Parts: sequence; C-alpha cells; structure tokens
Amino acid sequence: MTPTVTLNDGTELPALGLGTVEADGEDMAATVTAALDSGYRLIDTALSYGTEPGVGRAVAASTVPREDIRITTKIPGRFHGYDEAKESARSSLNDLGVDYIDLLLIHWPLPKVDKYVDTWRAMIDLQKDGLVKSIGVSNFTAAHLDRLEAETSVVPSVNQIELHPYFPQAELRAYHAQHGIVTESWSPLGRGSELLKASPVADAAHAHGVSPGQVVLRWHVQLGAIPLPKSSNPDRQKQNLDVFGFELTDEEVAAISGLERGRIWDQDPDIYEEF
Ligand code: A2P
Repeated sequence: MTPTVTLNDGTELPALGLGTVEADGEDMAATVTAALDSGYRLIDTALSYGTEPGVGRAVAASTVPREDIRITTKIPGRFHGYDEAKESARSSLNDLGVDYIDLLLIHWPLPKVDKYVDTWRAMIDLQKDGLVKSIGVSNFTAAHLDRLEAETSVVPSVNQIELHPYFPQAELRAYHAQHGIVTESWSPLGRGSELLKASPVADAAHAHGVSPGQVVLRWHVQLGAIPLPKSSNPDRQKQNLDVFGFELTDEEVAAISGLERGRIWDQDPDIYEEF
C-alpha cells in the first residue's frame, strides 16, 4: 500500500500518482489499467490532455473499487469564469464517466485573463454540491494563492507545480507548508532527460541499489511533495511506485537539490497562457 498524505479538507491522497499527459484513447486505457493493476491509486488527468475518456474506461473496467481510486482533473483556460468552470466540471464528469471527481484543479492561473477567482468560487460550490471531493490549483504562485485566500477565505488543498531537481522551488514549497497546501510535482523526472544521468542521482542509485528514476521520485517524497511520474511501460510504472522501502540521506537530498538550474520549459505562470 502506498502511504497517504492528508489534505486540508481531511481527505487523503496517495503519496505518489500516475501522470497521464500525451497519450490517447486505447493506449491511455491500457496504461491506466496496468497502473491500477500495479497498485497506483492516484491518477492525474486534465480536460486539455484529452485523456479523460481513456482514464474513465480503465477505472470503469477495473476490479479496484471506485472509492479506492483518486482521480484528479483540471479546468483549462478556455473554461475560466464561474459558469464556464461548472461547465468544465460537467464535461469532465461526463468524459470520465464518473459521478464525482476526487480532486479538481485550475490548470493555469492566467493572471492576464484575471478570472481565476471566479473559477475558484465555482469550484467551492461544486465541492459543496458533492460533485468534487477536493479542490486545488496548479501552477499558482504565492501571490495568486494569497489572492484566493483573501477573496474567498478558502485555501486550495493542493498546488501542482513544475518540480524536479533542476527546479526544486524551495520558496514556494515553504509557502505551501506554512499554509497547509500539499505540493504535487508535475514532470517529476524532468521528462526522462539527462537528469537521470546526473552524478548525485546516479551515485545515490548505486548506493541504495535502486534506479535513478526511483532516486528522483524518492527525493520528491522526502521533500513532502507528491510526484506524478508518467510512464506507459508497466515495468517502469512498478519501479516508480516502489520508492517507499529506502531512504536518501540528508546529504543525498541536498546534493540532488544542488542540481538546480531553473524551469525545463519556459512556462512562467505569470506569463504562460494555455487555453
Ligand atoms: P516511458 O513511458 O517509456 O516509461 P515525467 O514524468 O517527468 O514527465 O517523465 C516521463 C518520461 O520519463 C516518459 O518519457 C517516460 O517514458 C520516462 N520514464 C518514466 N519512468 C522512468 C524511469 N523510472 N526511468 C527512466 N525513464 C522513465
């Protein structure tokens, strides 16, 4: 069993989940089926990935009970606004074929559009109506989070951000800790880049008899973040979930964090727009 993390609304999330961007239809269903069979219980999708139908098919066909699975999906830019956000959630419920969403996030803040507070108000109501169990955000900065709290008094349960050893986000993680917000990491493996060959990662892998991918995912867990690695390969899926049986030393964690050099993509949430 994967350990869990408790959110500010009292619900629990597995400490590691499966990311699903960039795969479609039957391939997606097969990927999620393999992950559920391997023990994954947190599946991360988004309306804009186009992966909701595949995720929904795998969940419906699985022998794992629905109540044991946590499905996260996200509201894209084109659905910012109060009515639009509700429409987005209805579309996701329909495409996933479920009667509730476990965790609904605002995908990007889009500060120039300036509708994320209205979007958030709709999510608060969706949660009251029971259509969504937990509500959170993605790619929000501390300033965006401050504004949500000031204008609605409801603090997001989760902020899902770009986080990997090249971009450890120490300041934002500290803000999350102070405000009771759980950090989730997208692209936790730096998308399989040369990160996995970097010497602090390779050295720790050698020392613990695990793979470089496992070292990086364990680094996330020890930072208190929930990594959402993507893999369509069942063996790598299993390996990625198997990171709760060893512990990195403080020195190893610090050496891996020392790989910091910035975002992999040019997606500054204050500027980046995606609809
Ligand atoms: P594959 O689907 O063939 O396993 P991220 O989650 O950071 O976006 O990275 C995803 C990429 O990393 C995918 O291309 C995936 O390929 C690859 N990947 C996933 N797990 C591992 C692992 N344990 N070791 C090496 N590469 C991995």
